[in-house]
Amino acid sequence: MEHFTQSPTDAAFVQDPYAFYDRLRAAGPLVVWADYDMPVAASHTVVSALLRDRRFGREDPFPPPRPAHQAGFWAIEDHSMLELEPPRHTTLRAQVMRAFTSRRVTALAPEIEALSHQLIDEFPAGEFDLLDAFARPLPVRVIARLLGVPEEDAPLLLAWSNAMVGMYQARRTRADEFAAATAATEFTTYLHDIFKHPQPESLIEQLLIVAQEGKLSRAEVTATCVLLLNAGHEATVHTLGNGIAGLIGMGLWGAPVTPDLVEEVLRHDPPLHMFTRYALADVTVQGHDFRRGDRVGLLLGAANRDPAVYAAPDRFDPARFPDAPTSTSFGAGLHFCLGAPLARLELLHGLRALATRYPTLRMTVPPRYAAIYHFHGLERLHVRAD
Ligand code: HEM
Repeated sequence: MEHFTQSPTDAAFVQDPYAFYDRLRAAGPLVVWADYDMPVAASHTVVSALLRDRRFGREDPFPPPRPAHQAGFWAIEDHSMLELEPPRHTTLRAQVMRAFTSRRVTALAPEIEALSHQLIDEFPAGEFDLLDAFARPLPVRVIARLLGVPEEDAPLLLAWSNAMVGMYQARRTRADEFAAATAATEFTTYLHDIFKHPQPESLIEQLLIVAQEGKLSRAEVTATCVLLLNAGHEATVHTLGNGIAGLIGMGLWGAPVTPDLVEEVLRHDPPLHMFTRYALADVTVQGHDFRRGDRVGLLLGAANRDPAVYAAPDRFDPARFPDAPTSTSFGAGLHFCLGAPLARLELLHGLRALATRYPTLRMTVPPRYAAIYHFHGLERLHVRAD
């Protein structure tokens, strides 16, 4: 297997990781990304196959020890469907789906549209950051409304969520671990307070009904709320940001915002570029012997630019859909994004409202991606809307 060295936080790389992905993909179905010290897949076929391969999972077969000061964090994380495998994942996801129905999501369309217009009405005059004024508030307010938590608590939820994500950063400190555990405990207390008087018709009320039937534990309801709040905002924020900046930059802003354009926004510059899986047993894949517990990196951002699947993959072309295969941006297999229908709805109505109201939106500063790898998203997006 060929080895490649590339710092994932290198300033030039984060601005455009796609040329590196082309080199990885050309070198074979699996190559070693030395900076992560693990094999990675960059082709659409292998990424899609490994996401569906039940011999691999998200759960570490050899979990590291859990010191007492991290207990608050694990009290939630151990019940999060994103971190579980069958059979617990299967039952948990099925019960959550009973509350998170497609009818409930579709019914949100008029609210998402109205909220988008309300945010646009409040745009400041002159130059401003569109991430702060639009891309950030839209997803968090939508998920808060869906769950039935006060929208004005959004900053609190974001702070807890960010502190918890700190547990997954590459070189976390003991202070990060304390902060994650404290945030998780405070988040739990906050939610338990809301559980006492759930908002009628809210998702939380529905989840508690399922819990009363004995099909979900209270810890699972809590972990699901945290997961939906965490997973349900930042990826959407950055898809909106990357999409708007990309469309303006390519001279395509003002094109009709259709479901196919949304699919192309998701394919062309997604916010999440890599997920990892653990081998759950000794297994040989594409000629490589994985031992139980070995990791493999699945490069979603690279799979989406695979020329074997997408003709002229660097070109932004909504017309390739619906015939082209769906991108890997929402994953595939058991952990396929539960919020994909909601995210698609937010992208469609959010982008459409913005493009209709401001067909001549322009960037005042060239956009820059943040120098982090777990989210491929812009630092800021300065625009003028007049
Ligand atoms: C454009 C926005 C979004 C993107 C690109 C995205 C992407 C993803 C991906 C790639 C996964 C799978 C991770 C893996 O296989 O390891 C995932 C899982 C998940 N996402 Fe999303 N997501 C988005 C929005 C949302 C929203 C709005 C919600 C909730 C309302 C959400 C909730 C979830 C949940 C609960 C899971 C875990 C599913 C499971 O483990 O069975 N996501 N998402």
